[in-house]
Amino acid sequence: MMDRDNSLTPQAATRPDDLPKVADGLRLHKSFMNETPTIPGRRSFFQYRDLGLEAASSGKIRCNASNSIAGMVESTGWHYHTCEMQFAYIIRGTVVIEFEDGTVAAFGPGDAMFIPGGIRHNEIYVSEDKQSIELSLPGMMGTINVPRPEGLPDQLTPVGSTSRWHSDQRLGIAQTYQLGVHTV
Ligand SMILES: [Fe+2]
Repeated sequence: MMDRDNSLTPQAATRPDDLPKVADGLRLHKSFMNETPTIPGRRSFFQYRDLGLEAASSGKIRCNASNSIAGMVESTGWHYHTCEMQFAYIIRGTVVIEFEDGTVAAFGPGDAMFIPGGIRHNEIYVSEDKQSIELSLPGMMGTINVPRPEGLPDQLTPVGSTSRWHSDQRLGIAQTYQLGVHTV
């Protein structure tokens, strides 16, 4: 809001009693690209940008923008997270993850995943141009490495866009799944 002196000082206002009460611990927050810091994260090949939700929600939620900054040299290994849930939306690039339900999923732009805490998974491929938004509940979450789940077949069932599997020439992992992808 403009002040009389044309500065952009925000104006404090009293919240009317007839409006709903903001939930405890939550406050309005705006995240601007040039003000949000990059932060260390779980994986060295990603750069994480903290969108500030953890601070604005008293730790209830965390939301990061996560971009590849280097090629993924090996899979993360099977693990699960200690949290209620994790959600990721892929903006750009490709991510391939094996899941304990026997599937291996190739996610591309517009795809999303909701992973409840405790679900075992193994991230086996991330393209160098990957950009995603990741959200977790609560904000703090741990990572527990585990063995490959017993009883899983050697070849998991590929899911996701077939064209995704076939279009990404760098998706060498597809050869592991005998999908007929030929790198050039
Ligand atoms: Fe994970």
